[in-house]
Amino acid sequence: MSTNTATPEVDKGLATTYAAETEMSFIDGSKGILEYVGIEIDALARNSSFEEVVSLLWNRRLPTQSELDAFNKKIRAEYDLPDAMWAMIKQVPSSATPMHALRTLVSALAMFDEEADDPSEGANERKSIRLLAKAPTLIAAFDRHRKGQDFVKPDASMNIASNFLTMLNGEKPTDTMQKALDVCLILHADHGLNASTFAGRVTISTLSDMYSAITTAIGTLKGPLHGGANEAVMVMLNEIGEMDRVDQYIKGKLDRKEKIMGFGHRVYKAYDPRATYLKTFTKQLAADTGNQKLYEMSTRIEQIMDEAVAARGIYPNVDFYSATTYASLGLDIDLFTPMFAMSRIAGWAGHCIEHLSDNRLIRPRAAYVGPHEKPYVPMNER
Ligand code: SDX
Repeated sequence: MSTNTATPEVDKGLATTYAAETEMSFIDGSKGILEYVGIEIDALARNSSFEEVVSLLWNRRLPTQSELDAFNKKIRAEYDLPDAMWAMIKQVPSSATPMHALRTLVSALAMFDEEADDPSEGANERKSIRLLAKAPTLIAAFDRHRKGQDFVKPDASMNIASNFLTMLNGEKPTDTMQKALDVCLILHADHGLNASTFAGRVTISTLSDMYSAITTAIGTLKGPLHGGANEAVMVMLNEIGEMDRVDQYIKGKLDRKEKIMGFGHRVYKAYDPRATYLKTFTKQLAADTGNQKLYEMSTRIEQIMDEAVAARGIYPNVDFYSATTYASLGLDIDLFTPMFAMSRIAGWAGHCIEHLSDNRLIRPRAAYVGPHEKPYVPMNER
């Protein structure tokens, strides 16, 4: 049997492959630009709300006030969970990490949604709203369960950020706190074909269902090279502990060729525009909440990295300052990545519906580099 010996060129990590078209996020990695449907992320972070940004991403235009009011009403009507889900959360081991719990509970939600396997665009839009609305409830409820606290049921009079913080802490957040979370949700909502979004597209491209696709995406986001980086940044800041230990710690890691979490990006070879706004926003929040040491340590790390690796296109990414933001909000470290997931459901669901509008099964090739024409050797001759 003749074998084609030429091994095709493999694009490792698909780093230079354009696998889909999208109308939602534009990223210019060399200039550090991010736009949602053509609007710069900085303008959205300063002027918009998470719900308005979700409407922008899903409908490809800013909503009118009445459209936004109607959208908010639909989301808030879906905050609550089926009774059986509340009961199921109490069965989850308290020792489970929140990302395992979120992935499992989102997957379980499908079994209580009679539209779970309805592939129509209308059903997928309704499922997108359910997932967006229920994920914060699942995260807050699991956290209260693992701490032995009573559930705080969702309150449809509040936006997603306020409702989440109230369900989590058992008291309404200050306006500054809810605004800080709202800004983080805006900044994390969508980002082209990042690993978790691509994974979700692979799943939906088989004509599987929205819940399966979002479950795939949650599992993918969890990794420390992706959404798990914000938790890893906080672990690093806690390991460093004091300002006077920053230089030795960071330079030691760099000398050992270890990566500094919260820095570098597959696409951005300039400052991540999301980190720009987050840095300015977090400075005040950290000061207001007595976390200025975290902020000061972070800026010192940034200075060291700027001198050491900026020339190679390694800059802070969105996860670097979001760690100080979430810590300033009083969130446990292992709730940081669930915050990312809660927001990115907007992008994941949007990409699933976008993929289905012109579906093609995603199935790349593998370059075989193993042997050929090997005989089958009977067991007694091995
Ligand atoms: C997110 O894709 C997205 O859009 C993701 C995201 C989104 O919104 O969905 O933006 C969110 O995931 C942000 C990234 C969060 N991850 C981290 O902060 C983890 C730390 N960063 C690195 O692991 C890394 O930068 C990646 C994974 C993010 C990107 O890595 P690449 O593109 O695969 O590049 P690479 O690992 O091959 O690095 C190239 C060089 C290497 O040096 P050499 O081997 O060439 O000598 O840059 C170095 C790396 O060692 N490098 C770093 C570094 N990141 C890359 N060196 C020190 N510290 C780092 N953080």
